[in-house]
Formats: sequence, C-alpha cells, structure tokens
Amino acid sequence: MKKVMLSGIQPTGSLHIGNYLGAMKNWVAMTEEIFGYFCIVDYHAITINYEPKEMQKRILEAAIEYLASGLTDDKCAIFVQSHVRAHTELAWIFNSITPVAELERMTQYKDKSHKNESNINAALLTYPTLMAADILLYKPDFVPVGEDQTQHLELTRMIVRKFNNKFGEYFTEPEIAYSKVPKILGLDGVNKMSKSLNNHIPLRLSEAETEKLILKNAVTDTNRIRKTDAGNPNICNVFSWHKIFSSESTQQECFESCTNASIGCVDCKKILIKNLNDDLREVREKIISYEANKDYVYDILKSGAEKANKVAEKTLNEVKELMGIF
Ligand code: ADP
Ligand code: TRP
Repeated sequence: MKKVMLSGIQPTGSLHIGNYLGAMKNWVAMTEEIFGYFCIVDYHAITINYEPKEMQKRILEAAIEYLASGLTDDKCAIFVQSHVRAHTELAWIFNSITPVAELERMTQYKDKSHKNESNINAALLTYPTLMAADILLYKPDFVPVGEDQTQHLELTRMIVRKFNNKFGEYFTEPEIAYSKVPKILGLDGVNKMSKSLNNHIPLRLSEAETEKLILKNAVTDTNRIRKTDAGNPNICNVFSWHKIFSSESTQQECFESCTNASIGCVDCKKILIKNLNDDLREVREKIISYEANKDYVYDILKSGAEKANKVAEKTLNEVKELMGIF
C-alpha cells in the first residue's frame, strides 16, 4: 500500500516563493513515493477578517499555483476543505474531547488574537481541532509542514491519544515531515517571507514586476551605505536568495565583488533577478495557461473532492460508530 501524506495552505493571499520552495516543490518530490491530499483550507481562512468577494478568487489561485508547481491529479488529490463536509463534522467531535486550556495555549491563537482584538471569535480558538480533523480523516503517515505548525501537530497527536483512550484504539499519531528547505526571509530581510506580513515575492508576478519589487523593496546589508563601502554577503538577504537561485560560480563572483566593493547592490540584485526569473519561468507560464483554462482547474478540484470524500466519509462513519452515534 502506498503511504499517504496530507498538508494544507490557507487561501489568504497569493502563494509566494517561500511557499513554493518550502512547501509545493517539496510536495511534488514527495508525491513520487507517497500519495498526497493537498487541501486548500478555506474554513481556516474565515477565522480572520476577510473579503467575501475575494475568497473564491483566492481559492482558485491557490489551486492554480499548486498545479503550476507540478502537482498532478494522478499522484494526489487537490481539494477545497469546505467541499468535504466530514472536516467540520469531525472537528466538532474533536471539540468535545479537547480541553479549552490546550487551545488557549496555542501561540498562533495568542498571536492572532493579540493582532486582532476586535475579532477574537470561537473558530480562531478551535482552529486546531479543525486542523486535526483535516489530518486524521486521511490517516496520513506524514504531515509535511513548516516548524511553526509543530504545536498544532502536537495537539493533533494529543487528540489521537485522548480519542483512543476514550473510544478504543483507532487513530495513529501522524509523523511531522519538516520541510528540509530553511525558511527564506522576506523582502525586509528580517522576518520569514509571509503573505500575512506582506513582505513576500508572489509566485505569480511577471518578470518585470519581480524586477521592480526586488529593486525597490529588497533590503540588503544595511551597513553598506555607499556603493564604495565593502558589503558583507553573509548578512545580506539578497545574497541568501543568490544561494537558492544562482550557480555556485555566480555566488562566488557576487560574494567577492561585494566584499571588495567592485559591484553595487543594484547590480547584484539585477543578477539575482535574472536567475530567479529564469528559475520560475516554467511555473509562471503554467500559471498563465491554467488561468486561461479555469474549467480544467474546477474539474481538478471536483475530482480531488470526490477522492477525499470517499476516504473521509469512511473514517467519519467509523468514528461515529465507535462513539455510539450512528
Ligand atoms: P504564510 O506565512 O505566507 O501565510 P503559510 O504559513 O501558510 O505561509 O505557509 C504554508 C507552508 O509554506 C508552510 O507550512 C511552509 O512549509 C511553507 N513556507 C511558508 N513560508 C515559508 C518561507 N518563508 N520559507 C520556506 N517555506 C515557507
Ligand atoms: N494551519 C496551517 C497553516 O497555517 C494550515 C493547515 C490547516 C494545515 N490544516 C492543515 C497544514 C492540515 C497541514 C495539515 O499553515
């Protein structure tokens, strides 16, 4: 039997090169061996303020970005969380065995409620039980996520133990598969690249837009004030991107010419921009072609939801039976 993994991303903005390198590219490689359930978690995205008119667009964009990154329908199911009703139903069940105190401990809950005091809703608190349901419905062997999701995954594992204790051995604790790609920093050069911090390079930018964004907004070594000052590539965020997108020899050249001040930050950025645009060209071309073929993308989401529903319904029915609700 093929092993199974599940992961999800919220449709809260266009996916960026951090998501692509840290999540999607990794998923594509993993689907060679492991069947993937990749969920666009719209019910998680409504726990913060959002624009209803934008949601449908964001969901479709995320699906397109998943496909353009190389995920294919034969090796995974790409689907929208709200299209598989078992997610919210199982989340309700998990709410009944999860102590409120455990939910209140979650750093993501504390962060988000701190940032948005006027909208501390109940779903923001119970967010992790829905995430546990997303995961456990598919009984995955692995859950590929970034390190910021560790606490939620630990809570999922706790829910497994509580459920099994109360209703009999049923779920197994899923393994966390951390992305091997280190978090890339955003344009500010300080925080991780993140759509919620708006310091990101969206995957779907054109080459010209990418150039403009990086030239204007990407912070370099802040100690280098004049072009004639020597720079320190080891603390320069643009150089850290060179390490991803440029060849070893280009990295070497940029390193040397920055340290001996024979190249300025603008020229160094221009070299990066070319290499980054070359690297992303294929994915971006695919984004454009899926954008022109939205019916195909809707079909993918439909077939993904069908595959997901089959498995999810079975799990939910078994769970309900164990609980005496059927
Ligand atoms: P964002 O912070 O932009 O909202 P998410 O937290 O939704 O992004 O990220 C979804 C997944 O994308 C994460 O689990 C992680 O694997 C990957 N990811 C996100 N940001 C980065 C980054 N800066 N560098 C590498 N991978 C990232
Ligand atoms: N909470 C995750 C995040 O913010 C998104 C998510 C929801 C998820 N359900 C999931 C990730 C299930 C992995 C598995 O990134």
